[in-house]
Amino acid sequence: MGSYELALNNGKLFFNNSFIDANIAVLDGRIAEIKKVEIQDAEQIIDCKGKLILPGIIDAHVHFRVPGNEKKEDWVSGSKAALHGGVTTVLDMPNNNPAITTADLLEQKRKLVEKDSLINYGFHFGVSNGNSRELKNARNIASFKLYLGSTTGNLLVNDDSALEKCFEIASLKSKMIAVHAEDEKIILQNAKKFQNESNAKVHNKIRTVEAELEAIKKAISFAKQFKTRLHICHVSSKESLFLIQEAKKSGLHISCEATPTYLFFDESDVGKKGCLLKVNPSIKTEKDRKALWFGLNTSQFDIIATDHAPHLLEEKQQDYWKVPSGIPGIETSLSLMLDASEKRLIQLEKVIKLMTENPAALFKIKNKGKIEKGYDADLVVVDLKKEFVVKNDELFSKSAWTPFEGLKLKGKVEKTLVKGSLLFDNGDIIINKNKESKANLEVGYYG
Ligand code: DOR
Ligand code: ZN
Ligand code: ZN
Repeated sequence: MGSYELALNNGKLFFNNSFIDANIAVLDGRIAEIKKVEIQDAEQIIDCKGKLILPGIIDAHVHFRVPGNEKKEDWVSGSKAALHGGVTTVLDMPNNNPAITTADLLEQKRKLVEKDSLINYGFHFGVSNGNSRELKNARNIASFKLYLGSTTGNLLVNDDSALEKCFEIASLKSKMIAVHAEDEKIILQNAKKFQNESNAKVHNKIRTVEAELEAIKKAISFAKQFKTRLHICHVSSKESLFLIQEAKKSGLHISCEATPTYLFFDESDVGKKGCLLKVNPSIKTEKDRKALWFGLNTSQFDIIATDHAPHLLEEKQQDYWKVPSGIPGIETSLSLMLDASEKRLIQLEKVIKLMTENPAALFKIKNKGKIEKGYDADLVVVDLKKEFVVKNDELFSKSAWTPFEGLKLKGKVEKTLVKGSLLFDNGDIIINKNKESKANLEVGYYG
């Protein structure tokens, strides 16, 4: 019997923005020590020689489909998919069925998730045209999620007085508003105009850069008026990113998120992959994609999140107008970014911060996002040199497909630990039934 429950020896840790050779001791699910000497007095010892140890990835934007669409994803399959991707904490979106727009519905969702989750989690809370009282009542949430254009689910706010109230309440509660920024009016006009087209490429004629810009402008103007913290989800175009930077420079408390979908695909891919790449916002041009990479490298983005939006393959293979928007991504994002760093598209240190420390700081998540004494032992062990081919049949998501199928990547998730428990190891999920049930996995927030 050792005095620690777990030791991770001989790895290279991401610590204080660089890599150090050191050993981690875990006790009560937390990082108890970070030592130069190897740790022997632990019940379980994992040798991490030649491997990198990172803080567990925090994915601040996922759609796990509980409640109401469990055939696409349930919390168990979503958790397993997360672990496969090195993700130890998710913040889940409220566009469920029913949409999470009341405090009661949030509590019901909480109970469902609590019984199933293998990973840490938190919730975004939905804004509707008439739920200002509920916004006041919702407890322990990551943000108010505001849809300015309609997408999967029925969450849309198109009433300016509801918008005003939501920005005002968010400001009073010091909550962030996270926006799906596409303008509904522009989308509807364009949809009518192109109603006789059915090629997947019509999607970005309908969901245009202008639609994104218009919605961002609107959100910025309300945020300025009410001094509200604003977060723009999944930025898809050069112009949008520019607008956000201008707002930042003018003193607005605004942040934004990069999504691998828009970094790795542009409209030329839509020609090849069709409606698999139907997603909101739409995938834009090569010019936009390059600008997003430039933005990522010049610290214009605050976080990387996946917008993991599982739909079944048969749903994605229908006629354009019937295909639901959204792409699964939680299982591939870390490897895609590690591979990108190997190809010198971005610095590895930047990737790690954008996927761990930054989301923890932005959403004020307690005790996570860093390898530091006292922090939760949410860790991912990666093999940077390991090459592999992305395969649909190795995925854990119920959606069971990825637009990256067949792609060769360098940088593989080997082990994922949540609060000191090894839950993913070399392709397998480990469910240790003997271990007494873990502490509550819902995250807490500072402030
Ligand atoms: O393409 C999308 N799919 N965009 C969203 O905003 C929602 C998501 C989903 O839930 O499927
Ligand atoms: Zn969205
Ligand atoms: Zn989303």
